Amino acid sequence: MTIRRRELLLGVPAAGAATLLAGYGSAGARAPGPGPTGQLELYSWWTDGPEQNGLLALLTAFKGRAPLLTCYNGARSSRAATRPQAELERRLAAGDPPDTFQCHAGAELTELVAAGRLAGLDELYHRQGWADLFPTALLPQLRSGDSYYCVPVDIHRANLLWSNPAVLERAGAEPAPGSVAALLENLRRVARTGVVPLAVGGSWSRKHLLETVLLAALGPEGWSALWSGQGWGGPRVAAALRDFRDLLELSNLADPAMLGWEDATELVGGGRAGYQVMGDWAEGYLRGSLGLRPGAGYAWAAAPGTAGIFQYLSDAFTLPVGARHREAALAWLAECGSLDGQVAFNGAKGAIPARLDLPEQTRALFGPYARWSLDEWRGGRIVGSLTHGAVAPTAWNARIDTALADFLGHRDPGRFQAALVAAAAPATRA
Ligand code: GAL
Repeated sequence: MTIRRRELLLGVPAAGAATLLAGYGSAGARAPGPGPTGQLELYSWWTDGPEQNGLLALLTAFKGRAPLLTCYNGARSSRAATRPQAELERRLAAGDPPDTFQCHAGAELTELVAAGRLAGLDELYHRQGWADLFPTALLPQLRSGDSYYCVPVDIHRANLLWSNPAVLERAGAEPAPGSVAALLENLRRVARTGVVPLAVGGSWSRKHLLETVLLAALGPEGWSALWSGQGWGGPRVAAALRDFRDLLELSNLADPAMLGWEDATELVGGGRAGYQVMGDWAEGYLRGSLGLRPGAGYAWAAAPGTAGIFQYLSDAFTLPVGARHREAALAWLAECGSLDGQVAFNGAKGAIPARLDLPEQTRALFGPYARWSLDEWRGGRIVGSLTHGAVAPTAWNARIDTALADFLGHRDPGRFQAALVAAAAPATRA
């Protein structure tokens, strides 16, 4: 199959992509050097909306240092349900990798290293001093064995509840229900006003909702224990699955128009739904694509029952074994881990920088959500996300996907739990 090369970088982001922070990131804080020349093929599923704007902001900052380099994204557009992962996997297996590609820190990375796909980055880490600049809790997720294999560009939070203030006000509902039971009560109030109570997007959005409900029932220790195979058959998982069933009853699950998470976010932003559980890329969408104002057009809170817990995921770039433009890729990775690059990227994308050395005056340039998130990340209890690659390898994720797809048909929490117990068994034996 031929890959349609998307020319991503002509020196400036597409119209509407520039933000105050994106501007900050490319404001010439560093003198442009001669930089690497030739080509850089990166591979990223950020091919739409504010996600692509984040990537463009980072590329623009990079082009300031490597003006003669042509950069392009080999991935085809991935709006909604599908991601170009199968094509990437095919290329990696065929020994035809892009020069760098996007992955998640944690289990997903470990798996790629075990498959022999990635080159180590210890020298780059050493040169950049990153072991002192990235959070201690994150460092093990960037390593496999003793070596580093990816460079994080952001920290995202998965366990968030987004809501539409006007819809909630009409319904007499609250933006921050403290438990899943309280959320259910609020959803019933919204249902009485005739709009969708809980918007759920397609594909992995359902698993995303499920993981926040499990986290609420199990707490951080119980959640983490699941990933060493413990607790799947217990009463707390059973209760969470009943909650999950009840939440879905108050959702728009049957709506065939819900392809991606963005479709559900649009319903909330447009006042056609009350709530959505989604990661904070939804904030980039509400603010960047829908032009809504934080607080007035949309509100946020920790997903019910998970206050004080930061269920993280981190997007990172890698150096594949056999990358054709290795020097260019290393320069790109240096940009990904730089302060300017992270500020430019995250200002547009809706996430927060992974680096710890964000100056106070730069922090002040971020919006209210990101400033809140920076505080929560520093003060919160950190756990990893299932849907976004942090806690379980692909094969386990796939078994959970199958159990979930079956559940959406039969809606029997007991049967679902038995399937989840079975899905965990191979991982426990490993
Ligand atoms: C996550 C990814 C985020 C964002 C989100 C929605 O897996 O880490 O950066 O892309 O999916 O597309």
